[in-house]
Amino acid sequence: MIDVKPHNRDKNYRIDSDSLFLKALGISNDAGDVKPNMYGKYRQVCRFVELFIERIERTQAVKQKRVKVLDIGSGKGYLTFAMYDQLTQAGLNPKIDGVDTRSEMVDLCNEAAQTSGFENLAFHNMKAADFVQGYYDAIVALHACDTATDDALFYGIRSKSKLIVCAPCCQHEVLVDLQKSETSNRKFISHGLFLQKQADLITDNSRVMLLRAQGYQVDVIDFVSTEHTQKNTLIAAIKKSKPSPKHFHEYEAYKKTFGFNGIKLESLMREAGLIRSE
Ligand SMILES: C[S@@+](CC[C@H](N)C(=O)[O-])C[C@H]1O[C@@H](n2cnc3c(N)ncnc32)[C@H](O)[C@@H]1O
Repeated sequence: MIDVKPHNRDKNYRIDSDSLFLKALGISNDAGDVKPNMYGKYRQVCRFVELFIERIERTQAVKQKRVKVLDIGSGKGYLTFAMYDQLTQAGLNPKIDGVDTRSEMVDLCNEAAQTSGFENLAFHNMKAADFVQGYYDAIVALHACDTATDDALFYGIRSKSKLIVCAPCCQHEVLVDLQKSETSNRKFISHGLFLQKQADLITDNSRVMLLRAQGYQVDVIDFVSTEHTQKNTLIAAIKKSKPSPKHFHEYEAYKKTFGFNGIKLESLMREAGLIRSE
């Protein structure tokens, strides 16, 4: 059982606001208080890590001592550092990699990792789709833009990661399909805003269906209040069993009923031979 004690000035949050890494990343000020404009991000990260730790405890990864985690679309590294901090405090000797397309973020994070003494934390400047570094026990993505979330899910599915946790960001591909769709489900939606919400819902539900089809048990959670971010859906998946064609057939029926052509995750899985066309 992992024992990470909440020891923050604000007792509701498990990450100590006085941590060196929070100062290095600009979340906390020199006095060790979270800056008012960073509170939203701080809450998101604390909650994400809490849900992550609850789930990694249910996998065999906690018995390994070393736990390998990949953060896709790591940005300024808030989540990546927080995971490293909390897994270290739990005595798990983590090895964590972050991947991001913005070189200035990657440089800043590598510097902050050194300042914080986080030896096994490294950031890589490349597209998620080009990052192929073998097996990770867990894949995470917090608001990785558009289809970068699909790249993260695919990485986990392909390498049979024990745990995948992501909070998706903006997404566009299903919306384009729905705008052209003639299905009855689509016909009754006349407002663009509702169509966008419908597209977001369909995209995330498709991700869940495809994870299930690969033998993952999936939870979907509103992980923070919408007061902090509108993008507050968290998809958490634990590998439980072998792929299930039944779930994949349900996904095929879903596409037909709702009038969209599929999502990037499906294409990646097909290219990798993880889905057989019948
Ligand atoms: C909204 S930010 C979130 C950053 C961080 N996860 C956080 O929550 O603070 C999204 C990040 O994803 C990165 N990104 C977008 N597409 C990507 C891709 N295909 N591969 C890697 N990183 C990507 C962007 O550069 C950006 O830093």
